[in-house]
Amino acid sequence: MLDKETNQLLTAVDQGTPMGELLRRYWWPVAATAELEERPTKPIRVLGEDLVLYKDLCGNYGLLDRHCPHRGADLAYGYVEDCGLRCNYHGWLFEQSGRCLEQPYQDIALPHSRMKASIRIKAHTVVARAGLLWAYLGPAPDPLLPDWEQFTWPNGFVQIVFATLPCNWLQCQENSIDPVHFEWTHDNWSMRLRGAQGPYSPRHLKVAFEEFEYGMIYRRIREGQDESNQLWTVGRVCLWPNGILASNHFQWRVPIDDVNTLCVHWFYTRVPKGREPYRQARIPYWVAEVTDASTGRLIDSHVTNQDFVAFIGQGEIADRTRENLDQGDEGIVMMRKRFLDDLKVIASGRDPKAVIRDADKNRCIRLPLIGREEVVEGVDPEELKRRIPGSTVAGVGMDDFPWLAGQPAAVKVEFEQAMGWR
Ligand code: FES
Ligand SMILES: [Fe+2]
Repeated sequence: MLDKETNQLLTAVDQGTPMGELLRRYWWPVAATAELEERPTKPIRVLGEDLVLYKDLCGNYGLLDRHCPHRGADLAYGYVEDCGLRCNYHGWLFEQSGRCLEQPYQDIALPHSRMKASIRIKAHTVVARAGLLWAYLGPAPDPLLPDWEQFTWPNGFVQIVFATLPCNWLQCQENSIDPVHFEWTHDNWSMRLRGAQGPYSPRHLKVAFEEFEYGMIYRRIREGQDESNQLWTVGRVCLWPNGILASNHFQWRVPIDDVNTLCVHWFYTRVPKGREPYRQARIPYWVAEVTDASTGRLIDSHVTNQDFVAFIGQGEIADRTRENLDQGDEGIVMMRKRFLDDLKVIASGRDPKAVIRDADKNRCIRLPLIGREEVVEGVDPEELKRRIPGSTVAGVGMDDFPWLAGQPAAVKVEFEQAMGWR
């Protein structure tokens, strides 16, 4: 249980708040690169800042203040030039560093004016990696964007899925260090949703938590398992400060503001053995459904949607003054303590946990991964069909993407073609 001030301290993300400043020390995935191929500007809100993301005609990415410093027009309606983004109101042109390159009428009327040199629009760094655009909103110098090993894997089909949730990001991230919920939120609830009354799934007998360089690890033993199981020997990674690594995907929880979160999922599926080499022409993205429009209820049929029900159910900002933590919540306590400690670390001018600045270290960073060999090396085609319920083969699991609701048919087709099922 936390007091009111600490709960507020941990959940407020605007610039100038302690957590807002801490979270600004990290890179955040904010959009798919494919989105800017369709339309070169995109308004985004991240960490309480209204911004516009763009890709100019030379291929440079920029992330600027949403509003023009001239008289405030919305730059999401601006148009991109060879270099930079031009306001659609009076044509001021800005480049990715935030410099104003042109003030068209002023440049004619007062050619010697020094006004242009004094104009700067707020600008953040944005880089493309693994089909995503990553933003850094913190103080210079920018740290390195983590080069996770997954981003270098060949022969895989990657898809990016977004979901926007009406709640604070931290309650989503706390789920990354919450082993026991698997039993109840996924296994048992799914069984009950199917109309069965039992049996309930194997119970958790033991959980353990520890920190490592890039986050935290939790381990579990359930009935019927022992300490030789990878769920115990390898464990699951809670990625610092904003994600989780499950077997075949990352999920990052990106604060839009204090009461909204963008969940960004990056799924990698290795093509079956024998289908190499496979090269994906374009990484598709889609937006998951969260609410069932016909009933107004949250969708509960897909694994990650089940998590969303839990997060949203905790309220806009989970009231941690009323909680009663039990033994399964040791990791949550550890996470909060690390955040609070890191607020002191940045106040003393040092880097917080998992900020990477050493380029030699930042090469293909290998994270602990349960089932590594199969995820990386692939399995036989028939085995893959059995394991991945995304198959249309009759009788194999649910005829749908199992993690999130709303996968477009076109993405499903691309996926099945990649797997050799069509
Ligand atoms: S408001 Fe943008 S150029 Fe005038
Ligand atoms: Fe979950």
